[in-house]
Amino acid sequence: MLKFDVANGSPFVDAVEKLKAYLKEHQGFYQNQDFLLKVADTAQLYLENNDDFNKPFTIDLFNQKLLWRLNHSGKGSEAVCKAVLSNLDKPIVFDATAGLGRESLILQSVGCKVYMFERNPIIWFLLHTALYSAQNNQSILDSLKNGLPTLTNLGSFKDQVARGELLPSPDVIYYDPMFPQRQKSALVKKDMRVFHELVGFDEDTTEYANFLLTKTKHHLVVKRPSNEEPLKLDLRCSSQVSGKACRFDCYYCGN
Ligand SMILES: C[S@@+](CC[C@H](N)C(=O)[O-])C[C@H]1O[C@@H](n2cnc3c(N)ncnc32)[C@H](O)[C@@H]1O
Repeated sequence: MLKFDVANGSPFVDAVEKLKAYLKEHQGFYQNQDFLLKVADTAQLYLENNDDFNKPFTIDLFNQKLLWRLNHSGKGSEAVCKAVLSNLDKPIVFDATAGLGRESLILQSVGCKVYMFERNPIIWFLLHTALYSAQNNQSILDSLKNGLPTLTNLGSFKDQVARGELLPSPDVIYYDPMFPQRQKSALVKKDMRVFHELVGFDEDTTEYANFLLTKTKHHLVVKRPSNEEPLKLDLRCSSQVSGKACRFDCYYCGN
């Protein structure tokens, strides 16, 4: 169950009401765990009745580690940028799986125009609050070479197509779903385990990646654990870029 604690005067009062309405309409989220979402100027998520997780989970887009990556990112230094940019100049990129927003920010910082999609309501809400805070922080804005990515409405790209939402046409789509293997890893940090607890793993990856293939103009990039085979999609994977513990599989389609 999800409980809310919203401070008077929080800039997110309306967004919380929308989130509550969404959860009412889409029953089934957060049935097995008790979460508390505390909302003031920022939003923090607590996993209740679990002593392992006494620290709240939040999305901090501008922590030191990410800032360093943003200042040093480029096609040469970040495998994800190499895979997504390919030979394109300032492509429109759909990050189909925004998650904690890290890769969207990295891709935006190297010149992409990034649109973020997130279907988990709490992750979407945390991203919304984190981006709002960044938009209202001049020193963060000044430090960004290419502005912030755009968070689209709650829901997957496919949901938004079905709802007839107006979106540009993406040159590249980036897809980084949650794979079951990652969940079991002993190396997964505690705060990331809250994220995994919340999101679970995605079971529709092949089907969804095939849908994305029909929607991208130039290519689709799928992030995979390095020890796993590429997804078997309607198109063959035409090139791969190796990252630290992962691999970026590229499917060129020329739609
Ligand atoms: C592994 S995380 C992505 C991490 C992200 N690349 C980052 O840099 O933080 C996967 C996220 O995508 C979301 N997701 C998975 N499938 C999705 C879909 N079809 N549409 C929208 N969001 C999706 C999950 O809810 C989860 O938050």
